[in-house]
Amino acid sequence: MWGRGLLRGAKFAQLSSPSPSSPSSRSLLSAASTASSNLLSSQYQRGRWFGSSTANMAPIRDPNTLSNYDAWRTRHTTANLKIDFTDKCLRGSVILELESQTDKASKEIILDSSYVAVNSIKLNSAPSTWETKARTEPNGSPVHIAVPEGATKGEVVKVEIELATTDKCTALQWLTPAQTSNKAAPFMFSQCQAIHARSLFPCQDTPDVKSTYDFNITSPYVVVASGVPVPDETKDLGEEKLYKFQQKVPIPSYLFALSSGDIASAPVGKRSCVCTGPNELKESQWELEGDMDKFLEAAEKIVFPYRWGEYNVLVLPPSFPYGGMENPIFTFATPTIISGDKQNIDVIAHELAHSWSGNLVTSCSWEHFWLNEGWTMYLERRILASIHGGDAHFDFSAIRGWKALEEAIKEYGEDHEFTKLCISHKGIDPDDAFSTVPYEKGFHFVWSLDRLVGRENFDKFIPYYFGKWSNKSLDSYEFKNTFLEFFSAPEYSDLKDKIASIDWEGRFHSTGLPPKPEFDTSLADVCYELAEKWKSKDFTPSPSDVSSWTGNQILVFLNAVQDFEQPLTVEQSQALGKAYGLSESKNAELKAAYFHIAMRSKDTSAYQGVADLLGDVGRMKFVRPLFRGLNKVDRELALKTFEKNREFYHPICRQMVEKDLGVAAAA
Ligand code: BES
Ligand code: ZN
Repeated sequence: MWGRGLLRGAKFAQLSSPSPSSPSSRSLLSAASTASSNLLSSQYQRGRWFGSSTANMAPIRDPNTLSNYDAWRTRHTTANLKIDFTDKCLRGSVILELESQTDKASKEIILDSSYVAVNSIKLNSAPSTWETKARTEPNGSPVHIAVPEGATKGEVVKVEIELATTDKCTALQWLTPAQTSNKAAPFMFSQCQAIHARSLFPCQDTPDVKSTYDFNITSPYVVVASGVPVPDETKDLGEEKLYKFQQKVPIPSYLFALSSGDIASAPVGKRSCVCTGPNELKESQWELEGDMDKFLEAAEKIVFPYRWGEYNVLVLPPSFPYGGMENPIFTFATPTIISGDKQNIDVIAHELAHSWSGNLVTSCSWEHFWLNEGWTMYLERRILASIHGGDAHFDFSAIRGWKALEEAIKEYGEDHEFTKLCISHKGIDPDDAFSTVPYEKGFHFVWSLDRLVGRENFDKFIPYYFGKWSNKSLDSYEFKNTFLEFFSAPEYSDLKDKIASIDWEGRFHSTGLPPKPEFDTSLADVCYELAEKWKSKDFTPSPSDVSSWTGNQILVFLNAVQDFEQPLTVEQSQALGKAYGLSESKNAELKAAYFHIAMRSKDTSAYQGVADLLGDVGRMKFVRPLFRGLNKVDRELALKTFEKNREFYHPICRQMVEKDLGVAAAA
């Protein structure tokens, strides 16, 4: 196998333009930054300009890419990769077809990379001169490829990169057969959002560039990818098989996805199947089959018909670090959604909603991430409300969101940059800025616009917005302009004053909480009433207190208890766990919420349960807060639990917990 982390390549002497971080390139940038006084501090300041022929080039507006995508844009990507379970790497070639945006003004292509071993690079089938430059955090090591003659505007050049991933790859997790439930085969999966695609292969790793894809993947085990399977072309190659997929809708690099292992599949809807380990297939099918078609049909009614063909779900092993990831064709999901009570499949409504918000219409950088997640929360809540009974349900979910937003802002401090809707990412790793804020502040902004213009009008805006920006990427100001443009039509003239009152700047750039809306609290009130009863030490709980409730209602109740000024006593906390079956629940959300109460009560008898849960799930939403909680009450157990499960966690999760616990990364 190729050297791990080796940065190879011919010395790169003849490059004419300065490297992205050099002072001379920076001084060229100030012209771009005057484009609008409203721009984020980091925006549009890094564009590299190549004289007059670049006048109508779009500037670089993503601070998390080192690529010069203002000069070249990837239009098609072919990934010819072998999944090597022995060496735990992907190896093969990736071909990028890049369209020149200048008239021979750019003499090099710069791609993002992170800990990839590049073996050779061909330019239009001929050997090229290239170099992997030194790594800087958080964006990695740019690969510079010389294009000595440049290319005329619109001309497409082919860059063929021979490569292998290394053991420092942050996008992949490799599981041994022993780490899978049926122990039959090893397993691997990728997670590229936000900036991990560059650790699979050099690419323009920015949501501002979209490419179509061909996947030609060889593996000894079943392969799933973020394209439509081309089954007829699946070829047997002895021990291995070639699996082909096509993605004809242009997608950003963060939606590139692969998984392979002992994967079985079963139908769950007219356009959908669920894929997972053979042992988990039946229960996964049961959990999803009643709702997939309903979700799709509800979403299509709100926006417009689904454009991707199939919509499938891959249920991953428990170390998957997120609830779900909206990889096209195959949403990747945590097994914690398979809880046997259909109480956690709102995650699927969420990932499906991304088929419009995020996957068709994409935020141009992680600074405008709310355009993906805030809109998706809004669509998720609309989908679920349309299925489960209207406004009270919508508001109930919005109340939960508001609560989560309050907590996140309290945790950061209300002046923190990461509490803004638009978050500056200059020098920032998007994984570090990730929180509930873009989700819920974004949701509350979208919902406030909906209430301002009225549901009937807003419902007409939704397909207009998603239609206009399909297959494109945009920033918050382009969203604002689209909204203003739509509502400037004569039929909306009575809305003029309302629309003029929108505080766009405040919404985009203020820290802390946005204005609080009025909620319909009917579904939440019962939860608060039960919580009130728990304030009295004499209250005797009974399972019937919550037996007719949804899981989310129990969660709202538990969150209210967690917020009491005084923690519950140890006896109360234990009675709570027992009466409502929380410590034994199959629902990880409920179990985690209960353990937070128990830890606050210093109920030492619950700590081992926390440690056990931390060995069962790798979803960061649970893992990070539970480790922080355990660390406060029993640091020794927290450290021991982390060491025990280090290999179980996904590399991203491992890194984040190391930061949370203040422990050094293992060499
Ligand atoms: N796209 C996100 C997951 C993500 C975000 C991965 C940023 C990496 C970087 C996905 O759509 C998501 O939001 N998942 C949530 C689901 C929930 C809001 C229903 C999760 O993982 O908890
Ligand atoms: Zn999402």
